[in-house]
Amino acid sequence: MVSRIISVEAFDLVVFGGTGDLAHRKLFPALFQRDSDGQFTEPTRIISVARREMSEEKFRESVAVSLRAFVGKDVTASPAFKRFLERIQHVSVDVTGEKGWRELAEKLAGGEERVRAFYLATSPELFGPIAEQLAKHHLVTPKARIIVEKPIGHDGASAAKINDAIGAVFKEPQIFRIDHYLGKETVQNLMALRFANALFEPVWNSAHIDHVQITVAETIGVEKRAEYYDASGALRDMVQNHMLQLLCLVAMEPPSAFAADALRDEKLKVLKALVPITDANASSLTVRGQYRAGAVDGEAVPGYLEELGKKASNTETFVAIKAGVANWRFAGVPFYLRTGKRLPQRVSDIEVAFRPVPHAIFDGGTNTIPANRLVIRLQPDEGIKLWLMIKEPGPGGMRLQHVPLDMSFAEAFTGHVPEAYERLVMDVIRGNQSLFMRRDEVEAAWRWIDPILEAWSRAGEAPRPYIAGTWGPAASIALVERDGRTWNEDLA
Ligand code: BG6
Repeated sequence: MVSRIISVEAFDLVVFGGTGDLAHRKLFPALFQRDSDGQFTEPTRIISVARREMSEEKFRESVAVSLRAFVGKDVTASPAFKRFLERIQHVSVDVTGEKGWRELAEKLAGGEERVRAFYLATSPELFGPIAEQLAKHHLVTPKARIIVEKPIGHDGASAAKINDAIGAVFKEPQIFRIDHYLGKETVQNLMALRFANALFEPVWNSAHIDHVQITVAETIGVEKRAEYYDASGALRDMVQNHMLQLLCLVAMEPPSAFAADALRDEKLKVLKALVPITDANASSLTVRGQYRAGAVDGEAVPGYLEELGKKASNTETFVAIKAGVANWRFAGVPFYLRTGKRLPQRVSDIEVAFRPVPHAIFDGGTNTIPANRLVIRLQPDEGIKLWLMIKEPGPGGMRLQHVPLDMSFAEAFTGHVPEAYERLVMDVIRGNQSLFMRRDEVEAAWRWIDPILEAWSRAGEAPRPYIAGTWGPAASIALVERDGRTWNEDLA
């Protein structure tokens, strides 16, 4: 099966931070893919904005280098290559000063009727000032929209400030807050699985689900992002946004329609129902870790402090949390979350573990029959596995086996699997906010995260060490095993 391409109307995309890592690693490659699939309508333009002075020619060359690195070496052979580079312009702007704004306005002049999207691939301190400058220079047209990346703030108060500053210029339907996990194919598939199949909904509750596990494991360390990361840590970097969004998609009620606000209303209810973690329970419900030197994929890697170049740091590179959703559907069902850098495998998945059969009719009792599990693999090898018990073939006795019904997306669908950013940027142009976070969602997520950060800070404990290439501190295993459960062992 191959997906259909529906073209989007012509647009001007202005990328602030156009010389930065995100633009070159993710954004330009994603836009190129969409262009080469013929999704753009003429005249579509991409305008890079950065402080650095650079001729348009040099800038296009730098984009070509990034396309070769992140799309593939043979990209130059694609008929879209030249066309894509010709769409790109570059202007040097001092975003907090005066320099360059006139040139930007001149470039945009005449395109007032087109969709105009401002993509802020910059640090969040610049979100407010850039929005203000856009207004001051009369660049905010009725069809303008703004796209902002996480992190939106480092706590609830700073997030509110940033949202106020953007909100002073753009109305909420014009604001697209990216959580790129929502652009991942399998994440959207989770909604298809739950809400386009009648099979799961009746068992999607505490009567049938024993617990849920969400793992987002990375093999990389903090690399060039050490400075940002050290001020952030795994809880802010991964849990406040990506992991809570995944939890919401598992736990939310079916929305009345697949429409932006209906979806976001339901996710918001989940965020508001999260069981608070405070001083009283943080030490039993959370585990923080920090990697030491070790080996990943057979290669020796340095510890976090060595990568950071500091003697000490209290920042966690791993976190495990036993979360809960206090509502009728999920009260009492633990949601175990874990994420970390320098773990043994790059793998993200969601496991819904069902309750065991109530009574065993086969030899050996109920505890010899593993319970059903639904595993949604976000990356790599996207797919869905439903673990069932079957009879082992053969003429002998009634021997049972636990086997997966295995649906691999790579096998079922051919063609290019779009990267999250491909989908998300096209949704911005279409004006579809379903996969973007609304202000109240971001702030509700912080309301749950802030007390955890405060409890950790008051407890003053250092993160637990773990050796790079292992599944985090032993306490993370204990967090789950204390409850008589185990982390998904298919991963290890
Ligand atoms: C980002 C985090 O949001 O997500 C990074 O800031 C992390 O620290 C990345 O590495 C993971 O994204 P993906 O798509 O590679 O799973």
